[in-house]
Amino acid sequence: MLVISEVLVALLISLFVVQFLKLKWACSRLPPGPTPLPLIGTIWQMDFKRQHEILIKLAQIYGNIFTLWIGHIPVIILNGFTAVKDSLTVHSEDVSGRPATPFFQKMAGGKGIIFTSGHTWKQQRRFGLMTLRNLGLGKKGLEHRIQEEARQLLEYFMNERGDPLDPSFPIVHSVSNVIAAVVFGHRFSIEDKDFHQLIENNNYLTKQGSSISELLYDIFSWLMDHLPGTHQKIFHCHEFLRSFARKEVRSHQERGSPDEPQDFIDFYLAQIDKAQKPQLPPCAGQCLIWWLTQTSKGTIILPNLISALLDPEHWETPRQFNPNHFLDQDGNFVNKEAFLAFSAGHRVCLGEQLARTELFIFFTNLLRAFTFRLPEGVKEINTESMLGGFLQPHPYKICAVPR
Ligand code: HEM
Repeated sequence: MLVISEVLVALLISLFVVQFLKLKWACSRLPPGPTPLPLIGTIWQMDFKRQHEILIKLAQIYGNIFTLWIGHIPVIILNGFTAVKDSLTVHSEDVSGRPATPFFQKMAGGKGIIFTSGHTWKQQRRFGLMTLRNLGLGKKGLEHRIQEEARQLLEYFMNERGDPLDPSFPIVHSVSNVIAAVVFGHRFSIEDKDFHQLIENNNYLTKQGSSISELLYDIFSWLMDHLPGTHQKIFHCHEFLRSFARKEVRSHQERGSPDEPQDFIDFYLAQIDKAQKPQLPPCAGQCLIWWLTQTSKGTIILPNLISALLDPEHWETPRQFNPNHFLDQDGNFVNKEAFLAFSAGHRVCLGEQLARTELFIFFTNLLRAFTFRLPEGVKEINTESMLGGFLQPHPYKICAVPR
């Protein structure tokens, strides 16, 4: 018995050593980076709460292009404006794929826009852009919808009469309602319980995206499928979004197709009719979620967009809110090349124009109607960001005092 266990231990150690040497050899053909270990790669280097900071720190050690490992898969990180912009624009075709990782497969099953590559992605993206244009993006139609949401938001703030309020829910509600109008053709009242749940599930996905659980799922999917944890909650939330979208599709089918398609689902159903395809790809639900990883031929390339937004070569005070970043010496607005919040190249955000119009209309309406102040006794709020699928602020309260 003792002999067998000794042989097993020896076997495991030799397997570990062989794997380690294989990884070492693979490393020699890739940009530098921390040493990966068999099975876990460089997971031990990551701090999942402050991932973006860690990537910037690692760039200071290894240079702006370095390699991390998810298990046995190399991930090349591009850091700083120049490396990020070059990869997205000059080598756009090479980096426009998305890895079919177990996690992405489980979430999207090879459908939609965000997690797909190749023919499916091209077809879905073209259709998405065309439909947004048909629905009035860049025309007055969609602007009116946004104005209406801004009016409702103002009313919500007004009712608080300058008392401290957490603005995150009403803002997310308004922004989600713009997407709901585009996708489902109608808005939801702030009391609507189902819509609340949709927003909560979506919030969970944006907060938990890129978590350790997702990474572990990619490495040990066979095991993680049977274990409880954050990944199960993520799948559950995603399924909620899909079933919400399915319900809306059913009600569109029941009311029959209008002469003029009114929303994304109408356009989809008309397209399916035309192409005689039996199924609706689940793009509608996924429009609410977007991700950052890309892949050039088996290697994942991750242009660290945040590093371009924090690049000291391009921003005077990268970590401070500073409107002067976007003004010239005469106070005129200037476009900044390093402002890559919407990415660039083939995968540039599909909703950029919609998002920019929303930001403009919401901000101008709010600032014209209110003066924003910290609640009495509060000296400052934490402007550090929290990382999930996206960067977001720590919860805070503010007083919207009518002007
Ligand atoms: C301030 C708001 C927004 C920001 C900062 C933003 C940012 C981004 C970024 C950085 C990407 C690239 C992700 C990647 O490389 O995979 C992206 C992709 C995407 N965004 Fe946005 N986005 C915003 C709003 C929107 C809105 C309102 C929509 C809905 C119409 C939208 C739909 C999409 C889609 C469908 C993709 C995937 C495009 C593709 O993979 O081809 N985004 N977004």
